[in-house]
Amino acid sequence: MSERIQTPDLIAEDDFERSLRPRRLEDFVGQEAVKSQLAVSLEAATARGEALDHVLLAGPPGLGKTSLAQIVAAELQVPFVQTAGPALERKGDVAAFLTALEPRSVFFVDEVHRLPRALEETFYPAMEDRRLPITVGQGAGARVVTLDLPPFTLVGATTRAGLLTTPLRDRFGIHHRLEHYDADDLARIVRRSATIVGAEIDDAGARAIAERARGTPRVANRLLKRVRDFAQVRAAGAIDGGTADSALDLLEVDAAGLDRLDREILRTICQKFGGGPVGLSTLAMAVGEESGTIEDVYEPYLVQSGLLQRTPRGRAATARTWEHLGLDAPAEASRLF
Ligand SMILES: Nc1ncnc2c1ncn2[C@@H]1O[C@H](COP(=O)(O)OP(=O)(O)OP(=O)(O)O)[C@@H](O)[C@H]1O
Ligand SMILES: [Mg+2]
Repeated sequence: MSERIQTPDLIAEDDFERSLRPRRLEDFVGQEAVKSQLAVSLEAATARGEALDHVLLAGPPGLGKTSLAQIVAAELQVPFVQTAGPALERKGDVAAFLTALEPRSVFFVDEVHRLPRALEETFYPAMEDRRLPITVGQGAGARVVTLDLPPFTLVGATTRAGLLTTPLRDRFGIHHRLEHYDADDLARIVRRSATIVGAEIDDAGARAIAERARGTPRVANRLLKRVRDFAQVRAAGAIDGGTADSALDLLEVDAAGLDRLDREILRTICQKFGGGPVGLSTLAMAVGEESGTIEDVYEPYLVQSGLLQRTPRGRAATARTWEHLGLDAPAEASRLF
């Protein structure tokens, strides 16, 4: 319990990751429902020569929201202009972006749930009628001038769709939610990435990485990178199942794909709080991580794997949690499940 917990670099992007980004819809593995619906929207907009409807992409980190936003622009063959909710502070920031857009551009706002509330209202007329009312001058001489905007597509990405206000959410015509990937899709992603970076990997190797990638392409790519290093130093370069397993064991990624902090969260709930429920902020303090990171990065996969329960009174272990950690569930817990 005294070990120092490191935040895994699940969020930062590097050159490695950028080089692996799928560029076109056909390179984007999995998420078949999202892809086929999007393909129809893209084709219709292209045929009409119009801007695509505004698109909201929701889902946990690393599942492909930014990639899809770029793909939308690539498929429409229009410019891609990118910013993020927290980077927009004043109305003027928004105006500078919107007035400079070429017609039909994709304007990507990452972390759209972190857009300052006061700025949301600037987006409403822009999204609905391509109008941007701005105030010119000061005091008694101030007047409102309405600028006409070029047609554009706002693509918003969020890990927390629930935090979006209804008026903003309703102004996106197209909503897609990305779900965690299954092992087959992740294995395809690993093989694709290996080809791009020139790593030699067999099916069992790709499978081993896929199974421990917590349903997340970004994690799969990160693991591939680390496993490739291991293979280079310990196994003459090629990645087979055995090499991948040894490398992943060394990285302390367990059979369920959990890393140290995942296990620390679960162990804390079980051992310090008797299996819970324990409030998120108390839990965050106990493991030395930010509540937001636990909620956005760690919890979605733990909940999906049935290793964590979110209850109105806080986070709680399940029968499976105790089993996974090799701990004996207390008598009350076994009665509950
Ligand atoms: N469907 C996919 N097929 C192939 N690779 C993918 C896919 N989805 C994601 N990736 C890979 O995972 C990486 C992370 O994806 P991306 O940055 O698009 O995720 P994100 O949802 O925007 O994450 P965040 O919420 O942290 O911004 C990409 O660089 C890409 O290599
Ligand atoms: Mg992103």
